[in-house]
Amino acid sequence: MPLVTTKEMFKKSMEEGFAIGAFNVNNMEIIQAIMDAAAEAKSPVILQASSSAIKYARVNYLMKMVEAAIEEHPEVPVAIHLDHGPDFETAKMCIDAGFTSVMFDGSKYDFEKNIELTKQVVDYAHSKGVVVEAELGKLAGIEDDVNVDASDAMYTDPDEAEEFVRRTGCDSLAIAIGTSHGAYKFKGEAKLRFDILKEIKQRIPNTPIVLHGASTVIPKLVEMCNKYGGDIPGAKGVPDEILNEASKSGVSKINVDTDLRLAMTAGIRKVLVEEPNAFDPRKYLTPARDLIKQTVEHKMKDVFGSGNKI
Ligand code: G3H
Ligand code: 13P
Ligand code: ZN
Repeated sequence: MPLVTTKEMFKKSMEEGFAIGAFNVNNMEIIQAIMDAAAEAKSPVILQASSSAIKYARVNYLMKMVEAAIEEHPEVPVAIHLDHGPDFETAKMCIDAGFTSVMFDGSKYDFEKNIELTKQVVDYAHSKGVVVEAELGKLAGIEDDVNVDASDAMYTDPDEAEEFVRRTGCDSLAIAIGTSHGAYKFKGEAKLRFDILKEIKQRIPNTPIVLHGASTVIPKLVEMCNKYGGDIPGAKGVPDEILNEASKSGVSKINVDTDLRLAMTAGIRKVLVEEPNAFDPRKYLTPARDLIKQTVEHKMKDVFGSGNKI
């Protein structure tokens, strides 16, 4: 199967009530691990790269590796997506390089500016058959020690969501309902605002909803990093049960980067500590790749519900 847009994937996910994992990639091992997991789970998958990941890996390398992965697993529907596109130029570069989907992240702008800039990307993308994810609302960071009123103001406003989608023509919408990027998402108990999600779904029932900052920050992986010389104390993410509920409640795309970073780092750390004489990169990258594969497969089969949905 060639690269597909997320449009086809989301149609099925919305009809059948599951979510598709969007996993951040920046090297060969990560791409192989995700694609092997998708093949094993018989799951559609979105490979996504941020602008800094594209700078790191270089766009031609990324595209060639994705092409190779598709050749190896022709049965897996795959979309290649720009994550957090910062401006029109980056989105255009990715569209011209063959990406099937791009995100324009205008969440740092005010409502009107976000609409204006998102629409510019939508117009170009649609003229090339590419779909656009936009963002409305601001993801919280636990450093932002805000009071309840201020933190409420960061969640996506359902009324604004309806107007935003109508005026921009975006194909999917990333919303803020309590998640945040990175390994430190919650100080106390993990909690997402499913009430806001429900209201948004009522206002824009045909628009696929995207959840950013959705890593579980898998305790086993954090412990493994810390056991082998890491120092990541008090990390906390979104538990599987909450993500499973989100998948069944109208979230169509779930973004995961931190859990892959933890898996890779845990795998590498373990070998380097247990075998201090090892210096062949394959010696530590092979178990690291295996851990990423296990992590992704678990999410697809047991959490997002995308297993056996090819
Ligand atoms: O949401 C952000 C992703 O985790 C990508 O992060 O810009 O460091 O590649 P990055
Ligand atoms: P995490 O940091 O929770 O993995 O979120 C990744 C993400 O949202 C990428 O866009
Ligand atoms: Zn994100």
